[in-house]
Amino acid sequence: MELPYTEPYKIKVVESLRKSTREEREKWIKEANFNLFKLKSHQVFIDLLTDSGTSAMSDLQWAEIMKGDESYAGSKSYYKLYEVIQELLDMPYFLPTHQGRAAENVLFSTMIKDGDIVPGNSHFDTTKGHIEFRKATAIDCTIDEAFETSKYHPFKGNIDLNKLEKVFKSYPKEKIPLCIITITCNTSGGQPVSMKNIKEVSALCKKYGIKIIFDAARFAENAYFIKTREPEYKNSKIKDIVKEMFSYGDGATMSSKKDGLVNIGGFIALKDKELYDKASVYNIMFEGYLTYGGMAGRDMAALAQGLMEGTEFDYLESRIGQVKYLGDKLKEYNVPIQEPTGGHAVFVDAKKFFNHIPKEQFQAQTLAIELYKEGGVRGVEIGAILADRDPATRENRYPQLELLRLAIPRRVYTNNHIKYIAVCLANIFNKRQEIKTGYKIINEAPIMRHFTVELDKI
Ligand code: F0G
Repeated sequence: MELPYTEPYKIKVVESLRKSTREEREKWIKEANFNLFKLKSHQVFIDLLTDSGTSAMSDLQWAEIMKGDESYAGSKSYYKLYEVIQELLDMPYFLPTHQGRAAENVLFSTMIKDGDIVPGNSHFDTTKGHIEFRKATAIDCTIDEAFETSKYHPFKGNIDLNKLEKVFKSYPKEKIPLCIITITCNTSGGQPVSMKNIKEVSALCKKYGIKIIFDAARFAENAYFIKTREPEYKNSKIKDIVKEMFSYGDGATMSSKKDGLVNIGGFIALKDKELYDKASVYNIMFEGYLTYGGMAGRDMAALAQGLMEGTEFDYLESRIGQVKYLGDKLKEYNVPIQEPTGGHAVFVDAKKFFNHIPKEQFQAQTLAIELYKEGGVRGVEIGAILADRDPATRENRYPQLELLRLAIPRRVYTNNHIKYIAVCLANIFNKRQEIKTGYKIINEAPIMRHFTVELDKI
């Protein structure tokens, strides 16, 4: 028999989880106005709200925390991180930032102006936010297959070259400062972008003189999918795939809270000195001096170690294997999910799950609340509440997909936890007809309403 994958580590420290009763959870979720962001962490048994900043660090990373150099300028920890970024991304310039959106803020302050157009593959919320804040427009050029949840496509994060070229032909070059390739593409389900697609996008961008910036939060997971789904890379090392991916771009913004295996941090990496010099000014202003920029020395040291561990094949195989394990269990129980499962999360198709509840009653949020009540599992709604209102008409926007995201923190939960989550969802699926109605909004903020929205049962 072929040996199954296993975690390439054992557990040295554990953290207790508090179990609760259904009665307690029904009381707590009501007190939280049916908004899962408002729950206290001790009220949650298994937390799948995000895979961001929730990873478990290794013993070697904790050792780096002790070794961190807190010098304001010229810290050893900065140079340690510099070396690792060189080895992995091969980009000669880098700026540390406190997290991913800070990297976007600094780089976009340098590159994007009022009226600009920024094409890409389903830009992440903060990325889009930083584009729109500058009165520029993000244009989604993701392939259509990404929006058909039950259709298999190995690279649903790919950019449609025709859509991209249409953007390049419709606007003057001066209005398109960059094209963003998000690896993996969070919004479309943690879906990867193939090396072939990255190469083709790069060639098209070169033809039109447009820079490519990677949103690299989950770059290592993307490289794993290239190795396992793109035959020419079957025998390549993850670190070599990573280097080749970045060779096709001009720079990257990074949220280190994902594939960096740390709890906070980010950076900008660039090939061009002129762009680095310009971005440096904003980094000093918004984040901190060039050799720490929003990060403690100890955090940069732990990140350097985390990036090396996060690009090991055995680690990625068990990490992505666990996400797939949850997806496979759910399919076994007939729960509709986005297929294939992505790198960091399983997305449940709430539109199909609750097809008897109208979209105006927020199907994905209803499912998130039911899952919490069933077993204390916290996921997050990626649907109409998140999509918010149209800024002009103030009408609710109903996106193509109504999803419940179950993001799996790295190296944190066991496959027994995963089985528990799947059974919770199966139980709800089997009694779904008993859940006849969803929720209505009773209070909401004018923007980014999902964090603070208050709901009531219909
Ligand atoms: N880009 C992508 C693709 C992301 O998924 C995130 C964060 C960011 C940028 C911003 O990074 O949080 O460090 O400022 N995603 C988290 C999530 C919040 O839950 O998916 P950040």
